[in-house]
Amino acid sequence: SRKFCVGGNWKMNGDQKSIAELCKVLTAGPLDPNAEVYVGVPAPYLIYVRSLLPSSINVAAQNCYKVEKGAFTGEISPAIIKDTGASWVILGHSERRQIFKESDELIAEKVEHALAAGLKVVACIGETLEERESDKTQEVVARQMCAIAQKVKDWTNVVIAYEPVWAIGTGKTATPEQAQEVHAYLRQWLTENISKEVSATLRIQYGGSVTGANAKDLAKKPDIDGFLVGGASLKPEFVQIVNARQ
Ligand code: 13P
Repeated sequence: SRKFCVGGNWKMNGDQKSIAELCKVLTAGPLDPNAEVYVGVPAPYLIYVRSLLPSSINVAAQNCYKVEKGAFTGEISPAIIKDTGASWVILGHSERRQIFKESDELIAEKVEHALAAGLKVVACIGETLEERESDKTQEVVARQMCAIAQKVKDWTNVVIAYEPVWAIGTGKTATPEQAQEVHAYLRQWLTENISKEVSATLRIQYGGSVTGANAKDLAKKPDIDGFLVGGASLKPEFVQIVNARQ
């Protein structure tokens, strides 16, 4: 069975004061001991957050570059992320894809390098509203998975986050049925394209307007193995979302 896994994606938010307050709330919890938890932190705060949280809460970067080191002004490497004490990285978020024009190929290369460097990777996929409305959801998530799968040999340290772009930051959460439908499709895709074992063990998180109020119903679906939470991860409500299976 798959361990329930909930991540917060703080995106480009917070300052030392608000982060210290949030870390206090997360430390107090209590958080479901059966859930794996990570928070995705702006890079300059990785060391700070690592120092404020108990080791049971993992710290993630929100991006990294695909090579080890060198003349790449403004980028951070998996080695730098690890050196801060963080152990995860979120890659391929739709904001990286859309605003910063990251391609399937670049994201796959980043995933490959981050895994090789020993980070755990949250690889994000998901369709836009236009793609959903033209019935291309399966085609799009399959294409995104294909690119990643070409670079991943061992899926142990990978979590997939299915985040429909139309649900991100909009308050329009996918219904449990809509999310389950895509998660089940991804499970089938994994069976057909990778292996039965990977299909049975790889965690697939749902992301997009998850709140304390809707997390419990989403968490009941058999192929939803946790959440990647944006806005609500900046609030005490994140504790409730982590505890959605309790
Ligand atoms: P919201 O929870 O704010 O919709 O953001 C989801 C997200 O993008 C998490 O990565």
